[in-house]
Amino acid sequence: MITITEIEFEKLSKYVKSNYGINLSEKKKTLVVGRLQNILVQNNFDSFSEYYDYVVKDTTGEAVVNLLNKITTNHTFFMREADHFEFFKEKVLPFWTEQAKKSKDLRIWSAGCSSGEEPYTLAMIISDYLGDKMPSWDARILATDISMKSLKIAKEGIYKYEHIKDIPDFWKKKYFKMCQDTEYMVSERIRNNVIFRIFNLMNEEFPFKKKFHVIYCRNVMIYFDNETKNKLIKKFYDYTETGGYLFIGHSESINREESGYKYIMPAVYRKE
Ligand SMILES: C[S@@+](CC[C@H](N)C(=O)[O-])C[C@H]1O[C@@H](n2cnc3c(N)ncnc32)[C@H](O)[C@@H]1O
Repeated sequence: MITITEIEFEKLSKYVKSNYGINLSEKKKTLVVGRLQNILVQNNFDSFSEYYDYVVKDTTGEAVVNLLNKITTNHTFFMREADHFEFFKEKVLPFWTEQAKKSKDLRIWSAGCSSGEEPYTLAMIISDYLGDKMPSWDARILATDISMKSLKIAKEGIYKYEHIKDIPDFWKKKYFKMCQDTEYMVSERIRNNVIFRIFNLMNEEFPFKKKFHVIYCRNVMIYFDNETKNKLIKKFYDYTETGGYLFIGHSESINREESGYKYIMPAVYRKE
């Protein structure tokens, strides 16, 4: 087992924090060391200092992505925190489709989309809601993450049966195609309605020309310290249309007074 010194841990934490906003507190030291062991062994590194140098010098960006994959979790599933999707279907979609009935333009962002289950759930709800009118709308969802590995799975849109077993049967029939014995592929129509892009939420500049009607950023900010989180929420606020919504994870919270958003229901906020 390769151990980490105080200085090495401090250097690594500082790098991850300043570039990716991820907070590796002292409490996470054992977890980090454990999760990174394989990478060190596979690459024949004798110390975390060697590993650190390799990560910061790697120009392909692959080393840092592997590091992030180890220290964060990409766990997600279809219809996660289902009440959010219910609210989206019952309140958010009727409101925004009415508001945007002339432009027929819905702008939804799944920030930290992992392997795609969240944006695909949204795309299926939108498809059900708009029905035949779908082709006349631009309701594509922007879905971003820093993990290339997760985005690759997301773009392919192929999931094992146990990942889709809990979704409604009519969704299975309508939006999935069996591609191997135990694997199912999201229909082309739904895949085409999600645009997957790599994007680090810590980037100073957000490259979006227009504001969003809805932002989902759920179970992502759990890694960030308060300062990083507040800065990000401020940016989300600036990029939310008036009347637009922010969804965060149920185990997360935002500072209601500072953020500017109005609390609507657990983990749902609105810009008024
Ligand atoms: C637990 S998953 C959440 C997936 C989905 N939103 C959900 O709630 O099920 C967290 C995702 O956040 C991504 N993430 C963490 N830090 C990020 C950052 N700085 N920029 C973009 N994505 C980030 C991770 O790569 C991971 O895929």
